[in-house]
Amino acid sequence: MSFWRLDPDVIHLNHGSFGATPAPALEEQRRLRDVMESNPTRWFLKDYQPALDEARSKVAGFVGAESAALGFVNNATEGVNSVLRSLEACLKPGDEIVVTDHDYNACRNAAAVTAARTGARVVPAAIPFPLQSAREVTDSILGMVTDRTRLLMVDAVTSPTALVFPLEEIVRALEPEVQVMVDAAHAPGMIDFDLTALGASYVTANCHKWMCAPKGSALLYVREDRRDRIYPAVISHGYNGGWPAEGGHLHTQFDWTGTDDPTAWLATPAALDAMAGLHPDGWEGVKRANRDLCLTARDMLVDLLGIEAPAPDGMIGAIASVPLPRTPLEGGTIFNPLMATLRDRWGIEVMVMSWPDPSASLLRVSTQQYNTVEDIKRLVEAVATELDL
Ligand SMILES: Cc1ncc(COP(=O)(O)O)c(C=O)c1O
Repeated sequence: MSFWRLDPDVIHLNHGSFGATPAPALEEQRRLRDVMESNPTRWFLKDYQPALDEARSKVAGFVGAESAALGFVNNATEGVNSVLRSLEACLKPGDEIVVTDHDYNACRNAAAVTAARTGARVVPAAIPFPLQSAREVTDSILGMVTDRTRLLMVDAVTSPTALVFPLEEIVRALEPEVQVMVDAAHAPGMIDFDLTALGASYVTANCHKWMCAPKGSALLYVREDRRDRIYPAVISHGYNGGWPAEGGHLHTQFDWTGTDDPTAWLATPAALDAMAGLHPDGWEGVKRANRDLCLTARDMLVDLLGIEAPAPDGMIGAIASVPLPRTPLEGGTIFNPLMATLRDRWGIEVMVMSWPDPSASLLRVSTQQYNTVEDIKRLVEAVATELDL
């Protein structure tokens, strides 16, 4: 059986959007489901909590956090919503939530709703792209912080522009006076990432992207001094102590939010083990190889387009975006029609997004262990042909 379940007739260069899960982790998830379905009552009421605790402590080691600091959620969006919803209790008119114009749309929406409910204001920091240095990010964000700022929501790795942001510096400058919520949807498994060392109040991180866990596995980290105020977006038994988790507030609140299929969480350690086995240097080797191929891809694309690299190498992980010239293919809203053309004519899955508005487009390439330089050459050939370059 092959390690990846991906369609071999397609060139997959979009790991960043939805990840891909290795067969051993999918097999483990299937095994867990079979056990669950053989006796749901016993499984949910007796076996589930210890299995969850075990899975969480393995994942905690991978992201550099203690178990008590982590709740599983289904995705980064849910993590962000949980924190924002919880903070509504202490936000008031005139307070400010700083975001950036590279933030993920869904999370920006969640911040807008929290602002509308509380009278707080969302203040976007404008960050250029292309840019010359990480300093431009820090300066822009810190320039928007005032004594009314209660929260900064910032990405670890941005979605449209695919930039690794200088988080350590930003968190160090603001915490603990200004709470920082890091949207690290792409970070674990792509870049070096240690939650405790980072020191942010809140971090939401997907396991189903670069850790390659089954879909529906993500983490919410909350620093100890903020922990007691944070509740899941869906309130359930834990609110009045009705769920018998023993690992502290986050476990009591997040370990049960209604009946669901938690096997993606439980199979996350199997994904970590399977991926570590792909490279002689384990995860360090996987991350390094993915980044090296991504930089190769980025360089080949900027050569083709005849432009400078839009960001320094130090801001690139395993995804990179390049601005496309204006083309007759413009006209999409979120996705440029070139994306469908590359899929339909060339069998290539890659992101082509309108950003910052429909008059401009970014091509974003992701590289994972299943990619080779041949995939990139084919992408370059396809883009050259379609854009007449
Ligand atoms: C920066 C960022 N935040 C949040 C998300 C949302 O992730 P999910 O759909 O798993 O909630 C994404 C998805 O690509 C993302 O890139």
